[in-house]
Amino acid sequence: MKRQFWVGLIAGIIVCGIIGGVFGLSLVGKKATVEPPEWEEEMATMMKHRKIPEAAAPATRIENSEENILTGGEHFGHHCAVCHDLEGDADSDFAKSFYPPVADLASPDVQEYSDAQLKWIIDNGIRYTGMPGWEKIIDDATQWKIVYYMRALANPEKAEKLEEVLKERGFWKIGAPTAEHHHPGEEAAGEQLEHTHAEGAEPEHEHEEQGEHHGGAVQEETHEHSHGEH
Ligand code: HEC
Repeated sequence: MKRQFWVGLIAGIIVCGIIGGVFGLSLVGKKATVEPPEWEEEMATMMKHRKIPEAAAPATRIENSEENILTGGEHFGHHCAVCHDLEGDADSDFAKSFYPPVADLASPDVQEYSDAQLKWIIDNGIRYTGMPGWEKIIDDATQWKIVYYMRALANPEKAEKLEEVLKERGFWKIGAPTAEHHHPGEEAAGEQLEHTHAEGAEPEHEHEEQGEHHGGAVQEETHEHSHGEH
């Protein structure tokens, strides 16, 4: 009897494994440009909310201040907006052409994550979706500031005010996600400018424009952090 039980259990596990594997493989070779069925989204959302860990708290607290949120917004523009859109609502044909589609960051599904989970998502990405992990590209402090910015996106009034300030400062534009970002006063980054502003036909000009718009407070802020690689 005992032996039969174990043989049955192992056979059951193998059969389930094969069925799961075939189901997984059946997804390959299908279009990415269709909307996932609701049940699939619900299941994935449930699994993600359960399984995504919390990132460790930062060594020194990163304040959820207006300036830090703006710094987060500035970085959001050149790292994230290419997929998530400047508003974070993923309302472009490009965003909808991913499978699963790029997430609307103001949506309840995303806002339900804790701050530490959002930080973990930025740092590590989500496998088998288009969401990259940024640990080699964005330092921890900046990632927390981006988390605060994402929270602000869920409040339309707040988001609108931030948009205004970011526009004034010349940061309301989509950049290349992995490009080194130029901050005023960092000479070495000058060479990277052409990569930094994908749309910029006149990179030199844009650089000057940014310098002018940069208020003192932000300048201080941007010197505090640097990208992992440079
Ligand atoms: C190359 C495109 C791309 C870029 C660039 C990108 N994302 Fe994403 N992001 C995605 C996709 C696709 C998803 C949907 C993944 C899913 O449904 O699990 C996603 C999902 C997310 C989610 C929600 C996860 C969930 O469970 O729905 C967060 C939060 C997020 N991205 C934040 C960011 C931030 C912050 C940046 C910039 C640092 C960024 N993303 C840059 C493609 C991108």
